[in-house]
Amino acid sequence: MTLQIRSFEAYQRVYARSVADPEGFWAEQAHTFQWRKPWRQVLKWNFREPRVKWFVGGRLNITENCLDRHLEKRGRQTALIWEPNNPSRKARKITYRQLHGLVCQFANALKAQGVKKGDRICIYMPMTPELAVAVLACARLGAIHSVVFAGFSAVSLADRIKDAQVKVVLTSDYNARGAKNIAVKQIVDEALTLGCDTVERVIVHQNTGDPVVMQEGRDMWWHDVIKGKRKQCKPTIVDSEDMLFILYTSGSTGKPKGVVHTHGGYMVYTEFTFRNVFQYEEGDVYWCTADIGWVTGHSYIVYGPLLAGATTVMFEGVPTYPDAGRFWDVIQRHKVNIFYTAPTAIRALMAAGDQWIKGRRMPSLRVLGTVGEPINEEAWQWYHERVGKKRCPIVDTWWQTETGGILITPLAGITPLKPCYASYPFPGIQPCLVDANGKELEGDGVEGMLCIKFPWPSILRTTFGDHERCRQTYFATFKDKYFTGDGARRDAGGIYRIIGRVDDVINVSGHRIGTAEIEDAINKSPNVVESAVVGYPHDIKGQGIYAYIITSGPVADIASFRKNVLDTVTREIGPIAKPDKIQVVPGLPKTRSGKIMRRILRKIAEGDTSNLGDTSTLLNPEVVDDIQQGSKSL
Ligand code: WT7
Repeated sequence: MTLQIRSFEAYQRVYARSVADPEGFWAEQAHTFQWRKPWRQVLKWNFREPRVKWFVGGRLNITENCLDRHLEKRGRQTALIWEPNNPSRKARKITYRQLHGLVCQFANALKAQGVKKGDRICIYMPMTPELAVAVLACARLGAIHSVVFAGFSAVSLADRIKDAQVKVVLTSDYNARGAKNIAVKQIVDEALTLGCDTVERVIVHQNTGDPVVMQEGRDMWWHDVIKGKRKQCKPTIVDSEDMLFILYTSGSTGKPKGVVHTHGGYMVYTEFTFRNVFQYEEGDVYWCTADIGWVTGHSYIVYGPLLAGATTVMFEGVPTYPDAGRFWDVIQRHKVNIFYTAPTAIRALMAAGDQWIKGRRMPSLRVLGTVGEPINEEAWQWYHERVGKKRCPIVDTWWQTETGGILITPLAGITPLKPCYASYPFPGIQPCLVDANGKELEGDGVEGMLCIKFPWPSILRTTFGDHERCRQTYFATFKDKYFTGDGARRDAGGIYRIIGRVDDVINVSGHRIGTAEIEDAINKSPNVVESAVVGYPHDIKGQGIYAYIITSGPVADIASFRKNVLDTVTREIGPIAKPDKIQVVPGLPKTRSGKIMRRILRKIAEGDTSNLGDTSTLLNPEVVDDIQQGSKSL
C-alpha cells in the first residue's frame, strides 16, 4: 500500500521528505502497484519544452491495478453502487469480480470491432455503470478514452471528436436526468453529420429503452457487440507514458484543449491522494457526486477509488429530484462514509430550505469534501453544521483538469480546518505565488498568481495534437513554472486560499467556460455584431454569465432576441454556457488599440460602479454611462 498519513506531524514530515527527495518519495509510492516491467528512471523533466516523464521505461496496465489486483482479496466486495435517477428503481451493486468481468467482456467486444492500442474512443454517455465499464475497457486495451460530458451540444461533441480523430463513439439511447429524458443518441447522430470522418462505429447502450434510429453499417447495440464475448481479457501492457485519456477543457482563448494524461503517474497520484485526502478506511462507502464527464469523475469516481479497492457510488440523477432531500436519502440508504460534492450543489440545497435536511440522521458520514470552485463561508458553515453535524471534517480540495489529482487540500481529520482555505499543499506539490512580473512572493500574508514549481506524477503531459499550445498556455507565462490560471493568497503558517481565475475563464457551477467561447457562440446568433462576456457573483452558481451585446439595429422584440441568443449558445456549446443576463449595448468600452476593457464590464456586471477607474483614455468613454444605465434596468 502507498503511505498512509495519520497525523499532522506525519504530514509535515512526509511533505518535507517529498520535497527534499521527490524521486525517492514517489518511487516508494509507485512500488506498491503492479508493474509488468520496472521503470529505469523515476523522473525526467523540464518545464521549458515542457517534457515530463514519470517512471520512465515502466510497463503496466492501470486496469490490472484497478481490478485484477483486488480479485483475490476483494472479489466479492462491492466495487460500484449505482443509484439510478428514478428513486423507486433498485440500486445496482457490482462486485470487483463482476466489474472485472464486465470490463473484460466489453474490452473483448471493442477488440472485435477493431479497437487497438492508441485508438481514440469518444464516450458520450449518461451516468450509468456502463460508462465506467466503457472507460476501463478502453484503458484495458491501451485505447485512449475521451469522455465528453453528456450535457454538451452536438457542435461541441463534433469539435472534440474531430480534434481527437476518434474511431469509435460509445453512447446510450437516452439520459434520464431528473424529470428529463435527453435523447443522447440523437445528439451523436447530429454531431456525426458535422464532418467527423474518422468515426467508423457507434456503439449504443440501451439505457431507458425508448426508441432510437440506428444507422445501418455504422451503429451497433452494446448488448449485441458483447454477445458471446468472454469475461476474461488479457490487459494490453503499455508504457508508463502512453496516453490513458484526453479530456477537453476550456481556456481563455480558442476552442477547448484536449488535456492528456498518461498511465503510470496518473495511477500513482490518484490512488495516493484518494486514500490520504479523504482518509479512506478499508470498507468505507465513498460517494463523489460529480459526473464522469469531468476530471473529478475520472480521478475520484473511477480510477482513484478503484485503485484503492474502495466501494464507489455512482449517481445517475440530480440533487433536486424528486426533491431536495435526494442526496441525504442516498447517503442514508447506502450508508455513505465519505461524501464529495461541489459548492454549487451545497448552495442550491441550502437555498431549498432546511426542511429537507432537518431531523435527518446520517450517522455513517465521517468525511465531507468540496471541489470545483471557491466555497463561500456561509455554504461551508451550512455543510459543516447541517450535513456533517459538526463532527465531520471538510476537505476543500483544489485542483484542475490539468493536474489530474488534488494538489492543495486539507487531509481529513488531520489538517486544522479553516473555512474557505484549501490549506496546505499535498506531499510532492511545491506551490508558489508570483506577481505580474513573475517575481516570486515570499512569506505569508501575500496574494498573487498561483504556480507550481516542480512536477508531480499526474501533471498534464501535452494538449492533444498541439504541444505548442500546452507550452504557451501553462509554461510560457512564468519561466520554469506551471501556471494554474488561479489567483491565491497565502496566510499565516503557509495555508492557501484560492481566490479564483485570473484569466478570462468563468467558473459556472464548478464548470469552466472560456469567455471567448461563449462570445463566439453568441456572435453566431442573428443580428449580433459583437459581444463581450464576463462573470459576476451568483448566489447559487458561484459565477453567472453576463453578456453585453451590440446588435446590427434596434431590437424590436427583446424577448425573442434573448431567446435566439440562448438557443444559439445551447446549440453551439450546451445549456451550461447560457448567459444569465443579456444586455443590448450601443458599444463596448475599448482602449485606443481596440481591446475591450473587461475590467469595466466586470465592475458594471457586479453592480459595483463606485470606482470604475480612469475611463478617459478609452476610445469611446461615452458608452460607459450608457451601459451603466442599461445595466440597472436588467
Ligand atoms: C478550476 C479548475 C478539479 C476539479 C473540478 C474543476 C477552480 C477547483 C477549487 C477549490 C477554489 C477551485 C479553480 C481551478 N477550483 N477546485 N477547491 N477552490 N477553486 O476542474 O474544470 O479543470 O477547473 O476550478 O479555478 O483552476 P476544472
